[in-house]
Formats: sequence, C-alpha cells, structure tokens
Amino acid sequence: MLLNGHDPAALRRAAEHLAAGELLALPTETVYGLGARADDDAAVAKIFAAKGRPSDHPLIVHVLDAADAEAFAAELPPVARRLMNTFWPGPLTVIVPRKAGVASASAGGQDTIGLRCPAHPVARALMAEARQLGVQGIAAPSANRFGRVSPTRAAHVEEEFDGQVWVLDGGDCEVGIESSIVDCSRAHPVLLRPGVLTPAEIEAAAGEPLQAPDAQAPRASGTLAAHYAPRAVVRLLDPARLADSLQQKLPAGLAVYSRTMSPPAGVLHRAMPGEAKAAAHELFAVLRELDAAGAQEIWIEAPPPDSGWDGVRDRLSRAAAAFSH
Ligand code: TXA
Ligand code: MG
Repeated sequence: MLLNGHDPAALRRAAEHLAAGELLALPTETVYGLGARADDDAAVAKIFAAKGRPSDHPLIVHVLDAADAEAFAAELPPVARRLMNTFWPGPLTVIVPRKAGVASASAGGQDTIGLRCPAHPVARALMAEARQLGVQGIAAPSANRFGRVSPTRAAHVEEEFDGQVWVLDGGDCEVGIESSIVDCSRAHPVLLRPGVLTPAEIEAAAGEPLQAPDAQAPRASGTLAAHYAPRAVVRLLDPARLADSLQQKLPAGLAVYSRTMSPPAGVLHRAMPGEAKAAAHELFAVLRELDAAGAQEIWIEAPPPDSGWDGVRDRLSRAAAAFSH
C-alpha cells in the first residue's frame, strides 16, 4: 500500500502501523529505508526476513534528535557529538557504544549501534508522530533486497517487495546515495562508508583525521565488495579505456553511462552529470532505468579522482565488483 507522506491522516496511519510492530518503508533524504520500531526484536526480525539479509548484519537506527539518540547509546563520545552537532539532521551515521539490553536485534548483536537523524521532512513528521506512540527510534536499512540497488523513489520500493510492504511516499530522494558512516566507538574515527560528505568536511567537524577501516572494523553489508548491483553486467572503465572500447565491436544490449563522451548512435545512453552531488542524486535511478530498458551490459565512465566523488565511485565499484568474479 502506498501512503501519501504529505497527508496528516496517512502519516498517522503509518505511525500506528510502525508502533504496532509492522514494517513501513519510509523516505529519507539519502534513500528509502525499510523501517521497524528499533526496540522490538520481533518487528526488526521482519526486516531481515523481507530483505533476505543475514541477521548478524547491523541496521541503522533513525532518531528525531540527539536526545533520542541517548536512548540507544551507552555513551556519545566527544567526536560523535561534534559530528552530530555539525551534520544532524543530515546524511551522516555515527557508530557508538550501544546501551546494554537495548535494540540488540537492530544492532545485529554487536555491542555498538549505528545512529542517524534524517533531514527529510516526511521522515521527521513520521518520527514525531511515532514518538507520541512510544517509538523512539526506527531501525531501517535501505529498502532493497540484499545486495541490490537502493531505492530512491517510492515506486522502486514497491518493485523490490512486489507491493507487499506499506510505503510512505515522500517523493524523489535528494541525496541519492546512502549516508556516510563514521565509527566513533574506537580510539579514532573511522570512515566505514563514504557518502556525499567529503572526508575533508567530516575531518573539519571531527577535529581529527579519519582513519582508514582495518581488519577489526565491524561488518557493514554496504561495504561488501559486491553490492548495489543491477541485473545487467556493470563495467567501470576509465575515460581512455571507455573511448577505446567504444571503437571496438559493441556487445548486444549495451548501455553507456558517461560523463565526457557519447557512444555511437543506436546505443542506449545516459549522460552522467559533471558534478558529484548531481551524479549521486540520480545514480541508482539510472541503474534501475537501464535495467528496466533491457540493458544486458552497462559500461560506466569512472568518475574523476577527487574526493568529492568518493561516494559515487564507491557505489559504482561495488556494482561492478558483483560481476568481476
Ligand atoms: O542513508 C542511509 O544510511 C540509509 C537510510 C535508509 O538511512 N540506510 C542504509 O542502511 O543505508 P543499510 O542497512 O543499507 O546500511 C547501513 C550500513 C550497513 O552496511 C551496516 O552494516 C552498517 O551500516 N552498520 C549499522 N550499524 C552498524 C554497527 N553497529 N557497526 C558497524 N556497521 C554498522
Ligand atoms: Mg543497503
């Protein structure tokens, strides 16, 4: 069922559904999430079942504000507080020590918890309504089946779950790729997943350099090498290699998504925006469109090397990795 996120009566129904322990897909400024009340392990189990996601992969808990974050955190380390002050509400998730006995299914059994305060007005209206019904946090991974492309429109979510899940429609997601995740539970902050915030922006707010993830970094399914995959085979090619490949005999069912060049007439083509935020905004929708148009193979021009493109480059390399072995 599709509910209009701008209709107060529909928002109330959605909040009641969540409070009763049911699943609800909700819009955020990054991507749509598949939500359940974070304090109800049985409700959260429905998320893992619907997604086909292993139950030891932790979910992000969405809260209305920093005060509600404290309901889930054993402590908010100073670096987490600085990041929250700067970027909340917005596309940043902090990993902090989890309060004992709280939201353990949401955390996939880890002793830390991922917390995010979304900026999307419909998400905020829903959380405010749900809070009145006793819901302090909504556990929500991206509303796609495990390993597939995250949804940035309500219609994408309906496709993923064949209309079986209630979807709160808040329009097209502005950011388009998932939040940046910073692990603040260890001695130094670690960037577990890049998003649209640049490392320089995060470091300026954190007041210290970000460390690269190491072997002890907690498992994050969005950080598996092969993830965010459309059905078509994806190849990520640097501009020279793409130009060269376009001169060769082209495979049937080819689609090209490129920033600086066009394929020969007759090849399905989408032009990638020259600016990273605009590219992030449309990325997942373009992959879905090319899939829907019947592309068998998608050749994508690798983004420029500068760090503003880290989030887009990360998603593209994982989409391509699904087919490299
Ligand atoms: O933008 C977003 O973050 C979206 C929207 C819906 O908020 N959510 C999202 O959730 O991308 P998901 O579950 O698809 O990705 C969350 C990532 C996963 O890779 C998960 O493993 C990681 O966050 N994560 C969550 N809690 C964690 C924890 N305690 N320790 C380490 N990683 C964690
Ligand atoms: Mg995901």
